Amino acid sequence: MSDSTTHFGFKTVNETEKAQKVAEVFHSVAQKYDVMNDLMSAGLHRAWKFFTIETSGAKAGDRVLDIAGGTGDLSKAFCKKVGKTGQVWLTDINSSMLGVGRDRLLDAGFAVPTAQCDAEKLPFPDNYFDIVTVAFGLRNMTHKDAALAEMYRVLRPGGRLLVLEFSKVWAPLKPAYDLYSFKLLPFMGKLVAQDADSYQYLAESIRMHPDQETLKAMMQDVGFGRVEYHNMSAGIVALHKGFKF
Ligand SMILES: C[S@@+](CC[C@H](N)C(=O)[O-])C[C@H]1O[C@@H](n2cnc3c(N)ncnc32)[C@H](O)[C@@H]1O
Repeated sequence: MSDSTTHFGFKTVNETEKAQKVAEVFHSVAQKYDVMNDLMSAGLHRAWKFFTIETSGAKAGDRVLDIAGGTGDLSKAFCKKVGKTGQVWLTDINSSMLGVGRDRLLDAGFAVPTAQCDAEKLPFPDNYFDIVTVAFGLRNMTHKDAALAEMYRVLRPGGRLLVLEFSKVWAPLKPAYDLYSFKLLPFMGKLVAQDADSYQYLAESIRMHPDQETLKAMMQDVGFGRVEYHNMSAGIVALHKGFKF
């Protein structure tokens, strides 16, 4: 067991404590996750995810790995793209989130394989997937470099990684964004999900996450080529894409 320290939002905690605290957050929010997502982003997360799917280059027959897939938005959209000859794996470290996601996909008519696993130790062979995606998951991971290296390992040569994540907002918008994140978000979390703390963590974890250029460099460091990113909503989120060659 490691006793190195890391961040949990703005707090400094030891690494094992971080994993436990992240688990508590997602066990707590799982049932209200989808409604809170729509509320907090005014539905914008749907557009961010739509852009991710449409620029992924996914085609019939592809194998897709959705890491930190949670309630399954991306998995569901990828199922439609890859069709019956393709394969989409919904994975997440958290059993509550994964359970909600699996049930939603079944209700929509997609019986996808699911796996409860840590992105830092993926239970998949080398060079297997055409596409790996991680949406709003990377910032919760303790060793982001290890997780990115695992994503690289399981991709086939020519395959690509898509990382959709909160990022660094355009500077003139920062005061308004901070007000929204640190005042309104926890208030909405308390009102709708009876859980202000989890939404306070959300706001803090976004501020602690690497910015666009830093994440690009991290992807390059583990081997990804042709790494580029696209800012959305003035940099509130960014989609990073990189290839394994
Ligand atoms: C904000 S949710 C995103 C869910 C979904 N991808 C979406 O975009 O709606 C973040 C997810 O990351 C998962 N997660 C956190 N740490 C993880 C890890 N080390 N490995 C895999 N999943 C992790 C959480 O359990 C949670 O379901």
